[in-house]
Amino acid sequence: MKPVRILFVCLGNICRSPLADGILRHLAGARPVDVDSAGTGGWHIGDQPDRRSIAVARGHGIDIAGQRGRKVHARDFEAFDLIFAMDRSNLANLRALAPAAAQHKLHLFSSYTLGVERDVPDPYYEGPEGFEAVYSMLLEGCSSLIGRLDERS
Ligand code: 4NP
Repeated sequence: MKPVRILFVCLGNICRSPLADGILRHLAGARPVDVDSAGTGGWHIGDQPDRRSIAVARGHGIDIAGQRGRKVHARDFEAFDLIFAMDRSNLANLRALAPAAAQHKLHLFSSYTLGVERDVPDPYYEGPEGFEAVYSMLLEGCSSLIGRLDERS
């Protein structure tokens, strides 16, 4: 079966989307899912995820330290089946970048996975508890997403 190709997008690609990437890979196990993440901003191209995201992931048995930041590319809109924005600002940025043919691939993460329109809040200026809260929301959404993917297959 062809893998479902999923891209998580946030602003910096160092806090939220690398965590979402790690969580979904972890939950997906052997399922045919290709996962990646990117940012709408280019400040952290080539950087490791934020040490606080690495730490919260590690605390839950997930290693995201090997990921490196990158910016969203025009080819992503062809290369992925589902593109999840972490917040409404990220979604607006993606909608402006994506061609008409790819607009249907773009979703707010919480809307698609949890049925509620809620931003995954940017934890960059928060303490560790902000990262833990982001982890919990991403875990809940990614668990639901796995259920939806299983229904498709
Ligand atoms: P992220 O958080 O979008 O979850 O990766 C941010 C990380 C860095 C910046 C903004 C948000 N920044 O402005 O550098």
